[in-house]
Amino acid sequence: MALDDQPITDVHAAQREELLAGLLTPPRFINPKFFYDERGSELFARICELEEYYPTRTEISIFSRESAAIAAAVGSGCELVEPGAGSCEKVRHLLADLAPSAYLPLDISRDFLLDAAQRLREDFPALEVRPVVADFGSAFDLPEAGARRVLFYPGSTIGNFEPSAALEFLSRAAALVGPGGGLLIGVDLHKASEVLNAAYNDSQGVTAEFNRNILRHANQLLDADFDPEQFEHVAFYNAPAQRIEMHLESRIAQRVHCEGAVLEFAAGERIHTEYSHKYTPQGFADLAAQAGFQPRGCWLDDAALFSVQYFEVDSL
Ligand code: AVI
Repeated sequence: MALDDQPITDVHAAQREELLAGLLTPPRFINPKFFYDERGSELFARICELEEYYPTRTEISIFSRESAAIAAAVGSGCELVEPGAGSCEKVRHLLADLAPSAYLPLDISRDFLLDAAQRLREDFPALEVRPVVADFGSAFDLPEAGARRVLFYPGSTIGNFEPSAALEFLSRAAALVGPGGGLLIGVDLHKASEVLNAAYNDSQGVTAEFNRNILRHANQLLDADFDPEQFEHVAFYNAPAQRIEMHLESRIAQRVHCEGAVLEFAAGERIHTEYSHKYTPQGFADLAAQAGFQPRGCWLDDAALFSVQYFEVDSL
């Protein structure tokens, strides 16, 4: 079912239940999707502009420099599907060379999506834009394919999934595009710990605010009384696991009330809020291969900070 067909109260009840279940018992966890309320989305947009946060500008520089090569690998006239498309900004860097027959942005924020789709139509009048209000993580219907499908998944959002969930996502992507279909994906790369630690501990404290804001969102969803200032932003690169870990660490022993429950935090106790996995190009290709994707192209920036990779499902 597309998300806009589902009663809003059901969606909110399911979200509240998921959020509360993660918080009730240690090790406590909040799914990173809860970062993105209105303020969280604004803070993330500010993160993308930070000097220390290299992924966004590096990925865009790869799209701009390599768009002709990417288009040659992907082939023109495909139907391009982008889950979690949001503002539909990144695809703009590819459209001139890629010339898809249609672009289907998917997002759960209906008004935001429809506005972004309209702006895209105005700037690219020849492009057929067919927005779909849907959550790629749940069951949803797409209009019947008019051409070969290619899934576009920029931003290294795949890194926010644990490898088993990333494999599940990739398997769903392979089923969606089918034999002969493709996946064009942005994947952040393993690198020196200092560069990664700086990217998630910026000097202006925007990432810390983004992390703490998840508690404001929890307050709103659960009618809870978290004091975000009583939690410290903790982010570090776990090199053996090849992932950034983000946590919120209780500065003091404290009690938090939510949905009739009382959560007791010891001083120093953490809530885990995000993993951001980093890959080698080969490591990611190996994962994609398990979902049935064969590598067709890989483009890096000169400093090998970030990769854009293209895969196809073998034709029958
Ligand atoms: C959305 N995602 C790819 C970002 C990342 O880098 O993992 C989220 C983020 N978290 C802290 N800074 C940015």
